[in-house]
Amino acid sequence: MRDDARVDAMRETRGTLQRQGRFLTFEGGEGAGKSTQISRLKERLNAAGIEAVVTREPGGSPTAETIRELLLSGKVKPLGAEIEAVMFAAARADHVDETIRPALNAGRWVLCDRFADSTRVYQGEAGVDPAFLDRLEAVAVGGYRPDMTILIDVSPEVGLSRVAARSSSDGTPADPDRFETDTKEVHMRRRQLFLDLAAAEPARFVVVDGSAAADKVADDIWQAVCARFPLDLGHAGPAAPDPARDRIGG
Ligand code: TYD
Repeated sequence: MRDDARVDAMRETRGTLQRQGRFLTFEGGEGAGKSTQISRLKERLNAAGIEAVVTREPGGSPTAETIRELLLSGKVKPLGAEIEAVMFAAARADHVDETIRPALNAGRWVLCDRFADSTRVYQGEAGVDPAFLDRLEAVAVGGYRPDMTILIDVSPEVGLSRVAARSSSDGTPADPDRFETDTKEVHMRRRQLFLDLAAAEPARFVVVDGSAAADKVADDIWQAVCARFPLDLGHAGPAAPDPARDRIGG
């Protein structure tokens, strides 16, 4: 019971909401194209007069970025999936406190590359008890749950071939991180778990086909965001100009 009381207190602290901004998270497997689509959406929001902060997990605040290095280097892996889940949650708690809550309370939109759904999928797939993950999420996230989650769905074949094609700045292939080296079966199970989460919460999730061309994916996301937040974006509408396309005269 003491533990419950502590969780409630944490939830209350992080859940003190003013939230004039909107909190959008992007989820998907490796190579789904999240970062490209986040910057495309940010450009369109800016063109519609909305200020958006782009951030990511694990990371998004100085302490969380330090934890990110540990997690993605694989140094925490020997401690087991539960401890990895604890560390993702620790990073998330700091990220909410230092970056997400201040931005939302200042009226900005937050576009976040991965959030708590990634823990449910990645650490859930690795066998961590869902009830334990729920408790961690309650402590780390509190009331700062996403208003909308965009799941960019791609097959592991497409996603992993994109990851393999990524090069580091000197042209040599980039080293895969701790989670990119998992087997194709693991990637397939994660894909299904993301789709299951989306099916369970249709009011929050929108699923877009990430195998389409980047312009098409960006259009699909923009349509979905306009449909979800008509009052915020009513003046812009789905046909709002895409600044990137305007620049190349399309
Ligand atoms: P990153 O390089 O940001 O990958 P991506 O471009 O695919 O988002 O690395 C983050 C990795 O951490 C990614 O493989 C997913 C994993 N992860 C978890 O396992 N649990 C989590 O809670 C989060 C946020 C990420």
